[in-house]
Formats: sequence, C-alpha cells, structure tokens
Amino acid sequence: MRDERQEPRCVFTSPRLRGEVGWRASARDPGEGGSPRAESVERAPHPNPLRASFARLDPAKSGARERTFVAGSLLMSSEKFISIEGIAKRYPGAGGGEIAVFENLWLSMGRGEFGCVIGHSGCGKTTVLNILAGLDTPSEGTVIVDGQAIEGTSLDRAVIFQSHALLPWRTVLGNVAYAVTSKWRNWDRAKVKAHARTFIDLVGLTGAEHKRPSELSGGMKQRVGIARALSITPKIMLMDEPFSALDALTRGTLQDEVRRICLETGQTAFMITHDVDEAIYLADKIFLMTNGPGAVLAEIVENPLPKDRGRIDLHRHPYYYAVRNHIVDFLVSRSKTFATDVPGHDPRHVPLVKIGKPELAIAAVSDAPHDESKQASRPGQART
Ligand SMILES: Nc1ncnc2c1ncn2[C@@H]1O[C@H](COP(=O)(O)OP(=O)(O)O)[C@@H](O)[C@H]1O
Ligand SMILES: [Mg+2]
Repeated sequence: MRDERQEPRCVFTSPRLRGEVGWRASARDPGEGGSPRAESVERAPHPNPLRASFARLDPAKSGARERTFVAGSLLMSSEKFISIEGIAKRYPGAGGGEIAVFENLWLSMGRGEFGCVIGHSGCGKTTVLNILAGLDTPSEGTVIVDGQAIEGTSLDRAVIFQSHALLPWRTVLGNVAYAVTSKWRNWDRAKVKAHARTFIDLVGLTGAEHKRPSELSGGMKQRVGIARALSITPKIMLMDEPFSALDALTRGTLQDEVRRICLETGQTAFMITHDVDEAIYLADKIFLMTNGPGAVLAEIVENPLPKDRGRIDLHRHPYYYAVRNHIVDFLVSRSKTFATDVPGHDPRHVPLVKIGKPELAIAAVSDAPHDESKQASRPGQART
C-alpha cells in the first residue's frame, strides 16, 4: 500500500535512472490532476521562467525531468553571510574589445553553509573564488561578507589552493605558526605554538610537527594547508579544487576530515570541484555554472541527502542518483546549451533545484499482481 506521506515531489522517467538503482519511475502523466505531488509543484512559487523553459525541452534529448523549481531567493537562507552582487570579469579581447568571462553573477550563502561550485574549465570558477578571497577584483559588482564589502585580502578569508603552497624551509609547526602570528601579532611564542598544535592535531598530523614539506606526502601537505587555513579561524574557508591532485584514497580521507571539521566548527566554506561525488558529499548547495565565455550561474541545487550522510554509503541513498544525474546532465549537455534553452534566465533569481523523493519500487515486480514474498526481496525496499 502506498504511503501518501511519501508522495514523490518529482517523477523520474529516465530508464538510466531506473536501471541504476532499481527504482520504478512513475508512469503517471505529470499533468494528472488531483495528485498531491502535482499540487505541491503547482503551489510552489516559481515566478522564474526557467521552469516553463524546461517543460518545453525534450526530456529524452536534454535529460530534463520534471523537477520542482522555485525561485532561489525564496528558499535560500534569509541571512546573506556571503553576498556576491552582480559581479563581472572582463579581459581585453583580441580585436580590441572585451571578453566577459562571466557577467552579472549573483550568489549568496548563509553562515555555516558549505557551497560547491561545479562547471567546466574556463567558466570562471577560480576567478570567482579569487574575487571572494580578495586576490582579484571584479570588473563590475561587489562582494559582501558578513556585512562588509571586500577590499583586498583578509585573514577573515582563508584559501586552500590545489597546490599546497607551503613555505618549504619551515616545518609543519612553523608553517601553521606563521599563519597564526600573521593574525595575532602580539601573541607570545608559546601561545602561538599551542594554538598551531591544536589545528595540527585537528587534521591528524600530531607527530609530524617537525617535518618539512619535502618530507611529507601530498595528502599530508594538503592537511597542513587545511590546518593553516583553519588556524586563523577564518569567517570563510575558500578551496580551489583542494584534493584534485591527490590519490583517491587520500582524497576520500581528507574529504571526511574537511566535512567533520566544518560540521563541528560551523565553518562556512566555498569550494570549487570537478568531482560530482565530492560536491554531493560535502556541499549543502551546489552551484552550477554554464560554459564560458559569458558564463552564468544557471542553478543552485539543494543537496537532498541528510546531514549525517557518510562517504562510504552515499550512493545507497535513494536521492543520490537523482541528484548526481541532474548535475551530470547539466555538465554533459545543459551547461553548453543553457543560453538558448533558457533565454529568460534571471541572474538575480537563480532557481533553487530541490530534488524530491522518487517512488521506490522495481518496474517488473510492481506492475505484477501484489506478491508479499517478492516484495520482501526487493533491493529498493530497504532504502525507503
Ligand atoms: N589575465 C587574463 N587575461 C585574459 N584572460 C584570462 C586571464 N586570466 C584568466 N583568464 C580567462 O578567464 C577564464 C576563466 O578562468 P578561470 O577562472 O581560471 O576558470 P576556471 O577556474 O573555471 O577553469 C579563462 O577562460 C581564462 O582564459
Ligand atoms: Mg580553476
């Protein structure tokens, strides 16, 4: 018997999706009247034209499925701890004109949120992060963090780069202590060392304090980078593909560490990644950027997985493939065709995509007459 409380909020029709997780996509017409799901979609405020545009797309071609789209500004955290307001970045073009990497980019995040940006190479992700860090300036627009417009770099914003960028002549302790001294210049040596050791311990490097970068593995170097960033207790942690140069095992361990630390400390984090799974594991919100030049923030995907998700069993969660496929579909096709597919896109009201709960069942079994013994053996059942 179907539990009405678990009525799906969107219907998935992709055979790929069904094949991957053994769910049965509902055959109901999305327009079928009277279902609570249809009502919930209709009731959702969606002044943005994007939803209508998606309805016009051919789902088979674009991978688009029915989804609940609501205006981002209505559902996002009301507190704008980070507020990127209409920034653009332009460079001189070959013919004497200008090339805009991106234009009129608006994005906001609440305090304690973890945001991941995903987009193809060259769309301007690093530029956005550098502007947030104060390492670069926008050609137009402003970035406000905790009520203050950014003007240059600040110890309130720590950056973890893809390459660890450690001082090679300093030890682990020396590298972290250097950052601590930069922030608290009047602290005595003992206090600086004690503070640095706390963060070295937090990233699991106790025992390696006196090693120099040349004596550390790639993962250990990146841990030092994380400890150094956290040691100055920044308002925001900015990470530009921090784990992309690491082997899969080390990457996974560091993802766990970063997630644990962010959850424990309520750290606000903004991260660029190419790894969809990394984004789904770490982020509360995933920002999808279209291809450049002239890139736009197309969607904000709200992570539907629970806060207590684990990296190991991420893929078992019933929402996992839905959210993953949505992002992969975007990267594979919609990131390239977005400008023509969605001509009315409003960069100030970027749609917040909430992927709802699909109906869990297997087509072959659920279409057959009810049979308790078969029902009990369905792999999908355990996930409800
Ligand atoms: N100094 C520069 N002059 C001209 N173009 C630049 C300069 N710096 C970056 N770009 C261009 O800006 C675009 C965005 O770069 P970047 O932010 O590094 O992209 P991403 O991190 O998404 O790969 C790229 O196409 C790059 O060629
Ligand atoms: Mg980059």
